[in-house]
Amino acid sequence: MAGTPELSRLLDEIRQADDVPRHVAVIMDGNGRWARDRGLPRWKGHREGMKAVRRCVEGSLQAGISHLTLYAFSRENWDRPPAEVRALMALLVEYVEREARELVANGVRVTVFGDRDRLSAEARSSVETLERTTSPGSALCLNLAISYGGRDEILGAARGLAEDAVSGRIDPADIDASSFERHLQTAGIPDPDLLIRTSGEMRISNFLLWQIAYSELYVTPVLWPEFGERELYEAILEYRRRERRFGRVGA
Ligand code: IPE
Ligand code: IPE
Ligand code: MG
Repeated sequence: MAGTPELSRLLDEIRQADDVPRHVAVIMDGNGRWARDRGLPRWKGHREGMKAVRRCVEGSLQAGISHLTLYAFSRENWDRPPAEVRALMALLVEYVEREARELVANGVRVTVFGDRDRLSAEARSSVETLERTTSPGSALCLNLAISYGGRDEILGAARGLAEDAVSGRIDPADIDASSFERHLQTAGIPDPDLLIRTSGEMRISNFLLWQIAYSELYVTPVLWPEFGERELYEAILEYRRRERRFGRVGA
């Protein structure tokens, strides 16, 4: 697909204007259904999904997005059958092994959000190595939400502020959105401009609850393993047609 005339046309259209979303967040959903539709076990859908991650990163680099946050595994996903959880963790390790070199070459800096203490020692060390080796990257910040829950993140920030208040580092009267955001895992990162969910589900599933207050939502019926540059570019072009009002009166 890369390099087809249609993709080049979409990319030209995106690059012509200077309102590319700075931060795109994606709920990568539908791997299981993709596999089921083909009579395959669910893990094969997850493996195919890994290729879509690659296309999405590539497309983000091409389009000039500066932050891409991918929801790879939710805290609730721990409640899936153990064999599926094991397969997902093994794929994470495989992803790091396969992609690290190219991510570094493309200037992608990877950060992992979520409760990494729940990851297996192997998966944890693998993502930590990836964070370290990609840390000089400056073309794209790729955030992987793994063992992530939006409510957990908010609770963590509340806990951090409570500790600051008890120790006298902050006066509770001074707590505001900025001090709160400094305790989120996304501290320093702009809120997502565009939130994409694949597979047609119209829900948030505990993703970035604080940060998406004014994100534009884009739900596509495409299942994650079929998502590619074209789908990403179409979402960006649709985003550009939206009028963001932030509660104010439109133009
Ligand atoms: C998304 O695909 C991947 C993860 C949540 C880990 P699913 O596994 O949720 O696929 P469906 O929703 O069952 O099709
Ligand atoms: C959301 O998908 C989590 C990820 C994509 C990692 P799920 O498949 O877990 O969400 P629900 O269960 O449909 O809400
Ligand atoms: Mg799902």
